[in-house]
Amino acid sequence: MRLPGYVLGAYPRTRLRRNRRDEWSRRLVAEHVLTAADLIWPVFVHDEDSSVPIASMPGVARMGERQLVDAAGAARDLGIPAIALFPATDPARKSAGGEEAWNEANLICRSVAALKRGVPGIGVMCDVALDPFTSHGHDGLVRNDYVVNDETVEALIRQSLAQARAGCDMLAPSDMMDGRIGAIRQALDAAGFEHVRIMSYAAKYASGFYGPFRDAIGSKRSSSAPLDKRGYQMDPANSDEALREVAFDLEEGADMVMVKPGLPYLDIIRRVKESFQVPTYAYQVSGEYAMLRGAVDQGWVDDRVVLESLLCFKRAGADGVLTYFAVEAAKRLKAG
Ligand code: PBG
Repeated sequence: MRLPGYVLGAYPRTRLRRNRRDEWSRRLVAEHVLTAADLIWPVFVHDEDSSVPIASMPGVARMGERQLVDAAGAARDLGIPAIALFPATDPARKSAGGEEAWNEANLICRSVAALKRGVPGIGVMCDVALDPFTSHGHDGLVRNDYVVNDETVEALIRQSLAQARAGCDMLAPSDMMDGRIGAIRQALDAAGFEHVRIMSYAAKYASGFYGPFRDAIGSKRSSSAPLDKRGYQMDPANSDEALREVAFDLEEGADMVMVKPGLPYLDIIRRVKESFQVPTYAYQVSGEYAMLRGAVDQGWVDDRVVLESLLCFKRAGADGVLTYFAVEAAKRLKAG
């Protein structure tokens, strides 16, 4: 785009540093702003009455129900609109078919119910995917070494309905099966859950940045080879394909869409926002958190990278960010 000359100006009459000279004028010309209302806080829950730190995510812990309710209350009071729950399921409850996912008394359903009872005013979001519940760690059902689509979608519908019955406000299908948004939407509506929102992990890439998350929920392979999800998650080489994924999910009834991972995929966020003008979110994933946290804790970078990285999502076009830094960021924003 060629800007007209009067906007460009010319040195020395125009000096762009003038606006940057003082705090007040920097604030006045700021094009984007990060607030606590832009943040969604992903948390890990387990079936113990304790907080247990996650080694690869310093500062993040698996929480029991009591710790979860306290932490969610504090997050709400800081202005964080929503919390996303991820269960570290007891390995004894995992199976190849992932049936625990639709057990209405499972950890995730109990956690949702506890939050709805104990912490009014915060949105509760649940992932829809089988990986916390399958013995093999895949997001879907495996037949002949392949994660099958349509049969998995049937399982995801069961999981979605169980979570909606528990009181979940927003479902977030993260499985990348084809057609799951429409199928889940239809099942929700038929069961009287037409108000339950869907934020689809629309453009989710097969990424190495999910490593610490798989640690956190205990879905990591014990053998050395990392779990290969390239048969359903997107190829990091692709960008046009992300727009098709988003278009499908919107067509099928998604209320909000997400791009994941975050910082290495800002170009995708920008394209999605420009193409569709719908509520668009980024997920600053576990590996990104671990890198930033680790470097900050070592003193290798200043801790202002936390707010800087989150603001960059807003500048790229995101309406909000799922981030493990949510509480820390909200506290910093409050402190000014
Ligand atoms: C599960 C799921 C994953 C994440 C969110 N939901 C992991 C995966 O797809 O393997 C990753 C989140 C993170 O790394 O912070 N479907």
